[in-house]
Amino acid sequence: MKNRSIVDVHAHVLPGVDDGARDLEEACFLLDQAASQGIRIVIATPHVSGRNGPEGLEELAGKVQQEIRKQHPEFTLYLGQEAFFHEELPRRLKAGTVLTIAGSRYVLTEFDPEVSFGSLTRGIRALSMAGFQPVLAHMERYQCLRQEENLSEIANGGCLCQMNYSSLQGSRFHSDVRWCRRQVLDGNVHLLGTDMHRMDFRPPDIKGAVEWLEGHVEEELLDAMIWKNAMNMLRQKETDFKV
Ligand SMILES: [Fe+2]
Repeated sequence: MKNRSIVDVHAHVLPGVDDGARDLEEACFLLDQAASQGIRIVIATPHVSGRNGPEGLEELAGKVQQEIRKQHPEFTLYLGQEAFFHEELPRRLKAGTVLTIAGSRYVLTEFDPEVSFGSLTRGIRALSMAGFQPVLAHMERYQCLRQEENLSEIANGGCLCQMNYSSLQGSRFHSDVRWCRRQVLDGNVHLLGTDMHRMDFRPPDIKGAVEWLEGHVEEELLDAMIWKNAMNMLRQKETDFKV
């Protein structure tokens, strides 16, 4: 694996707010692991909780960034959320009770893995119509997108598709791994993320995936998926935490 700069667009590293990192120590352990593999920027994307709004998340992200910078002075953490799509989501985003990615118009959204293609496209359209840019979280999870024409329709319709690094790792004889790799080669994957949670549940282990990418994907496409597309998303509005 070459020495690279990577942005992770999907991470549950804010301590104690969802099923991700349990405390500051675990958050820093995860981020240190991520940094050792070339991840320089992480967008923290805690799940939206039904009861609580985003109050306090920014302060928490600032605290995590301050702590991880003791080991990695250049490390930058941005804040977003991972929002399960429901009819109220566009309204809640407009009201600021659900966060977009770093204050931009990009929204990391997920659906039920069994969602019908009709409901998925309606949801994506509802977000676009409300002025947001949907980023479909772990696009490999949705059964309806296994039909190629559905996936191209989504991707061509302006929805950005995020895949988890872990889905690219494993045996090439495994049909899911093969499917995911083919989507990368076909240009249907715009962003890659770890979806890291805990050291014993989806740790940030990207080395195998990046090595496969280096061996099979043009440098320009690789750079777009691991860095450039995410940076373009972030540059729409910079909200670096000054701590
Ligand atoms: Fe997630």
